[in-house]
Amino acid sequence: MEVPKTPSSPPPFQQVGRTAKRPYPLSVYIGRFLWGAVYWGLFRWSPPRAFGWRRMLLRCFKAKLTRTSALYRSVKVYHPWLLEIGEQTTVAKDVDFYNLGPISVGSHSVISQGAVLCAGTHDYTLPSLPLRRPPIRIGSGVWIAREAFIGPGVTVHDNAVVGARAVVMQDVPAAMVVAGNPARVVKKRLMREDTGDDTGQPPERAD
Ligand SMILES: CC(C)(COP(=O)(O)OP(=O)(O)OC[C@H]1O[C@@H](n2cnc3c(N)ncnc32)[C@H](O)[C@@H]1OP(=O)(O)O)[C@@H](O)C(=O)NCCC(=O)NCCS
Repeated sequence: MEVPKTPSSPPPFQQVGRTAKRPYPLSVYIGRFLWGAVYWGLFRWSPPRAFGWRRMLLRCFKAKLTRTSALYRSVKVYHPWLLEIGEQTTVAKDVDFYNLGPISVGSHSVISQGAVLCAGTHDYTLPSLPLRRPPIRIGSGVWIAREAFIGPGVTVHDNAVVGARAVVMQDVPAAMVVAGNPARVVKKRLMREDTGDDTGQPPERAD
């Protein structure tokens, strides 16, 4: 008796066996290995406020930082030599710089807890699924709120605000507030005078 043929499925679009196994020069793998040892041994376990120590470690791996760039110890940096952070900029706990390509952050910016900046992708229109490393640029005076995702190739222009958990795959115009997935402009960022009497504490109960 003839065995019925099973319908053949189309071949997968992508042939992962054709993806470059080592897309970087050898020096990058050595640098990554050394940075991994320093990161897990000295950066990750540094005292919470040892910002100068962490700056020194990152600078040993060619990160461009100012004397006032502050990174918390649980910040992840993939390629320190592709990181640039300006004056008075703070990078909060658990921020993930997946900087396969360069990431730069201007001055007086704040990147809040758990934000992910992903400067890497694949060209899914080619069967070999090659790696792409488009840069991410964050301007000055920017606030990226908690757990936002900033995609490859995105520029967040000066003074913009990115809301919590936003997914940003397109450039953010200057001085705008964006939020949501996909991130959309929700308002213009309007500024008021600082009166100096804002304590940062919750308001007193009225009763
Ligand atoms: C982005 C943010 C700063 C805007 O605050 P705001 O100026 O008070 O904004 P509003 O409450 O007036 O919201 C404006 C609109 O955007 C929407 N929106 C605001 N934040 C949003 C967010 N994170 N995701 C989706 N939509 C959001 C609001 O629902 C509102 O929509 P509507 O006009 O349809 O009603 C704030 O919402 C936010 O995300 N804060 C982050 C807090 C944080 O990360 N804290 C940790 C670090 S301290």
